[in-house]
Amino acid sequence: MIELFRGDIAALEVDAIVNAANEALLGGGGVDGAIHRVAGPGLLAECRTLGGCPTGEARITGGYRLPARHVIHTVGPVWRGAGDEDALLAACYRNSFALAREHGLSSLAFPAISTGVYGFPPDRAAGIAVGGARAHGAGFARIVFACFDEATEALYREELASP
Ligand code: AR6
Repeated sequence: MIELFRGDIAALEVDAIVNAANEALLGGGGVDGAIHRVAGPGLLAECRTLGGCPTGEARITGGYRLPARHVIHTVGPVWRGAGDEDALLAACYRNSFALAREHGLSSLAFPAISTGVYGFPPDRAAGIAVGGARAHGAGFARIVFACFDEATEALYREELASP
């Protein structure tokens, strides 16, 4: 049920890909930029109607020109070492699964939220991601973790191997 995929999440044909967005939901760099580039201007136009998204929450849009039918935009925490980052990242996974469930979706792909420019330690984030899928992913046919590089994939593999 949980799969690893190495490469660009924007290429995945699933019910929804999750975007590691920012609170404005108006695009950006990293995975957010890659998703908007493939989806085209329709995605940004729909995002403009949403009025942003607080950290830890999630919003759903269409997938436009993506192979995925929907995009779930979630906003990971910026790593500051303040102490609330683990709970906020866990909320991203929990709320993304909840939204997917509400919309009757059964296949979902996640990037390594917050581990790029937001600076969250990747090993710690992989633990929270896998923990989130185990806690909230029951009933989903496919849960894909899109790992952009070999190091990220190795971290997820390690997490999945431990009970
Ligand atoms: N497919 C899968 N994973 C990717 C891709 C891709 N196409 N591109 C990058 N990654 P980041 P964040 C990985 O920085 O840390 C944006 O500007 C990347 O290697 O995209 O949550 C937003 O607008 C890393 O492992 O997201 C926000 O302002 C992971 O995706 C801010 O960045 C997340 O890196 C969010 O920062």
